[in-house]
Amino acid sequence: MNTFGDRIYLDYAATTPVDSRVVEAMLPYFDHQFGNPSSVHIFGQEAEAALEYARETIARILGVTSDEIVFTSCGTESDNLALRGVAFERKIKYGADRILISPVEHHAVSHTARQMADHFGFRVEFLKVDSFGMVDPDYLRKVIAQDVAIVSVIHGNNEIGSINPVMELGQICRNYQVPFHVDAVQSAAHLSIKGLDEWCDLASFGAHKFYGPKGVGALFIRKGTPILPIQTGGGQEKGIRSGTQNVPYIVGMAKAFELAQTEGLSMQSLLIQLRNRIITSVQNEIEGCRLTGHPTERLANHASFVFDGVDGNQLLVLLDAAGFACSSGSACKTGDPKPSEVLLGIGIPPKLALGSLRVTLGKYTTPEEVEKFVIALPLLINKIRNMSLVVKGL
Ligand SMILES: Cc1ncc(COP(=O)(O)O)c(C=O)c1O
Repeated sequence: MNTFGDRIYLDYAATTPVDSRVVEAMLPYFDHQFGNPSSVHIFGQEAEAALEYARETIARILGVTSDEIVFTSCGTESDNLALRGVAFERKIKYGADRILISPVEHHAVSHTARQMADHFGFRVEFLKVDSFGMVDPDYLRKVIAQDVAIVSVIHGNNEIGSINPVMELGQICRNYQVPFHVDAVQSAAHLSIKGLDEWCDLASFGAHKFYGPKGVGALFIRKGTPILPIQTGGGQEKGIRSGTQNVPYIVGMAKAFELAQTEGLSMQSLLIQLRNRIITSVQNEIEGCRLTGHPTERLANHASFVFDGVDGNQLLVLLDAAGFACSSGSACKTGDPKPSEVLLGIGIPPKLALGSLRVTLGKYTTPEEVEKFVIALPLLINKIRNMSLVVKGL
């Protein structure tokens, strides 16, 4: 059921509303079962049982063992723990100092890698991507070697929707025994990731992208992966991530993940129909537009474009005033006049990259909402283009 009144929410890649069944699962752990999972007494035991049940649920869905799941505070923290933890450990142990990432990563990966190059003696190298932002496996084969500390690649791209060939990339890394991290923060809501231990060593998740609460995430760390704890303290999460666990949010994350990977996956063909309606309509109705990301190998809910002669932020403001909540890239960048690094990374000229729009659908999106959107968008684009002609005095 859509609970947003007259407003039409088309920004599910930024965040999702918490499913009411998730809220219900979380509630007891705020008051009745509020214990600290590290405490010895019954209150602690109850909290610990809930924590371990949540861990087992997520492990079962991924087809891995529960001791391979570490809870964190968000997708960003999971990405940081993966990159820093593994790269530091492999540098200390083997002198490995190269970090390989794609040029289309989320800032949680790209800015982390950049800081490790600027301050911690690592060399960051970018993998080659095509014009859809898909990493070229042959290029990875060429550059990978034992001195690579970690390879990190985004699974489903948050800005352009493309789905990377992560299984193939992961196999290449495994052949060289180089740890492979996949940022699965966006893909977890849309793709089955069961059996990921066969091709990856670390995978990041964040609950708020799949109808769970904000402020909780998880990192899959395959058994035997070298990793230095980044947050030290009381030794929770097997010493890899100290800090008292956020039990209600972790319980909520597990419930949300279960729903996403069962009934959520069964909705994907419906989302694809709605997404394709938007893509086809925009391409047919609006001149000077380009779809960003792969036309078919993309997240089911994701449509993204650049428009000639349009200021993306102005478009967002007009869309908002007309009742549509969209984004011009990742949520963190909204309002930032610099062109997106991801769009530049796939070869879009800076001026055109400033005219970007991301429309992401979710389980509450209706065909009627999509129809309203495809009618409104060309009118608003025209309005902006006409306004800029007036400003230029043409
Ligand atoms: C691909 C990707 N990675 C990481 C993150 C960061 O996740 P969080 O918001 O949970 O910190 C996001 C959030 O937009 C994302 O889309």
